[in-house]
Amino acid sequence: MTAFTINGKAVDVSADADTPLLWVIRDHLKLTGTKFGCGAAQCGACTVHINGEPARSCSVPLADAAGKQVTTIEGLSPNGRHPLQKAWIAEQVPQCGYCQSGQIMQAAALLKKNAKPSREQIVEHMDGNICRCGTYNRIIAAIQRASREV
Ligand code: FES
Ligand code: FES
Repeated sequence: MTAFTINGKAVDVSADADTPLLWVIRDHLKLTGTKFGCGAAQCGACTVHINGEPARSCSVPLADAAGKQVTTIEGLSPNGRHPLQKAWIAEQVPQCGYCQSGQIMQAAALLKKNAKPSREQIVEHMDGNICRCGTYNRIIAAIQRASREV
C-alpha cells in the first residue's frame, strides 16, 4: 500500500510501487482529467502537481508519490473557477482538448511562482507541453488574461 494525498484527500493505493502515477490516478482513483499522451515525459498531457511542483505523472513511479501532496486538474479549484480555467473559457483555448488539462496544470505552477510573467517567461515555462492542435497562441493569451486576475 502507498499512502499519499490527492486533491486534499488522503488515499492508500494498492499497486506495484513502480506503477506510473498516471495510471494510479486514472485507473485506481478514477480521476480521468489527467491524460496519457506519450508515456515518456515528452508531451505534458499527464502533468499534475506533486508538492506544488509540476510533474509528468506518466514517468513518476507510485513509490515517489508516497507521503506527498498530489493535485490534478480536478483539484485545482473546488468549483472549476481557477483564474486559468475561467481564462481558458474566455479565450476559447481548447480545440480537441486532449492536452489542455496538462497545459493548465503547467500554467498554474507558473502563476503560483510568478503572478505576472512576461510573454517570454510564459513561452519558456510552457515549452514542453505539446498541443497537436496548435493552440499555443490562445494558451499564451489565456495565461496573460489569468495573470491580470491573480
Ligand atoms: S504522457 Fe506524460 S509527458 Fe506525455
Ligand atoms: S487542443 Fe488538441 S492537442 Fe491540444
